[in-house]
Amino acid sequence: MTKRILSGMQPTSQLHLGNYLGALKNWVKLQEEPDAHCLYMVADLHAVTVPYEKKDLAAATREIAAAFIAAGINPEKSHIFVQSSVPGHSQLMWMLATMAQMGKLERMTQFKDKAGKNAERAGLGLFAYPVLMAADILVYRATHVPVGEDQKQHLELSRELASTFNTRYGADFFPQPEPVITGPAPRVMSLRDGTQKMSKSAESDMTRINLTDDADTIAKKIKKAKTDADPLPEKLDDLTGRPEALNLVTIYAALAEKSREDVLKSFKGQQFSAFKPALVDLAVDKLGPITARMKDLMSDQAQIDKILAKGNEKANDEAGPVIREAMKIMGFFPG
Ligand code: TRP
Repeated sequence: MTKRILSGMQPTSQLHLGNYLGALKNWVKLQEEPDAHCLYMVADLHAVTVPYEKKDLAAATREIAAAFIAAGINPEKSHIFVQSSVPGHSQLMWMLATMAQMGKLERMTQFKDKAGKNAERAGLGLFAYPVLMAADILVYRATHVPVGEDQKQHLELSRELASTFNTRYGADFFPQPEPVITGPAPRVMSLRDGTQKMSKSAESDMTRINLTDDADTIAKKIKKAKTDADPLPEKLDDLTGRPEALNLVTIYAALAEKSREDVLKSFKGQQFSAFKPALVDLAVDKLGPITARMKDLMSDQAQIDKILAKGNEKANDEAGPVIREAMKIMGFFPG
């Protein structure tokens, strides 16, 4: 059976190493599976649920698309598209909204985090965010959804909405989308503080490796990354209490596609003065081509727009019939 895979990323961020290792790298792998049909979208409708810069939105959308392609998602094979260019997402969202219970939405931890103390003033869009996410998935009748831990609760809601629709209308229409957690997602931490997640919002650019950094910048950031004075131990357990050391070993392992235990086997007893250059070489080798390709794509807006126009068309072609069928199932006037 064909796996229908859908995932999305919001155009809110400058993408960094954490996004690549935690998401994009897996998306590329999924694309290579036989019988996989992949849809990867820039989730711009989600991005406007919180305050954002109007002048940057389109550019950020192109940047995410460029990162998808630079990371290895092949637009000939997978659909790369923009959420707001496919009306079916919003249409299905409305239908599903009639079935989504407010009480359940109130329990979504991401809503609670983002709305903060002032939930009464939060916009309906932020509240309904998980319903839109369900529509994103179900409008392609996707069966597999690669997501991070933080999105699992939303995915659970998508599953419930799929069954509510099916039960309420007596139709076996929407499949139950499964979360795909491809291996343990490495927790990539700040290069300056191993207890903080690598994040686009951290003040200093030296805390993260951006997917737009050139090879020299990547090398410089790794060389300046915080470490400690001890050599690398033989066992992973012995990195407890050494968050910066653990982080660099984690990054090495993820880039080399090895276990951290194996990395320690090769580097045990060595100082960071030896480990860091090896990490620089590896990072430049693996990331350099991606960041260079990204830069190249970003300098040719017309090329990205062409790819997105094609992807949007293909996504619309798939979503359209599902919307028509869902409307029919719900008994709407066959306009
Ligand atoms: N909400 C997801 C995030 O912030 C992005 C997203 C939007 C998504 N729609 C989706 C992910 C559908 C998977 C499926 O990471």
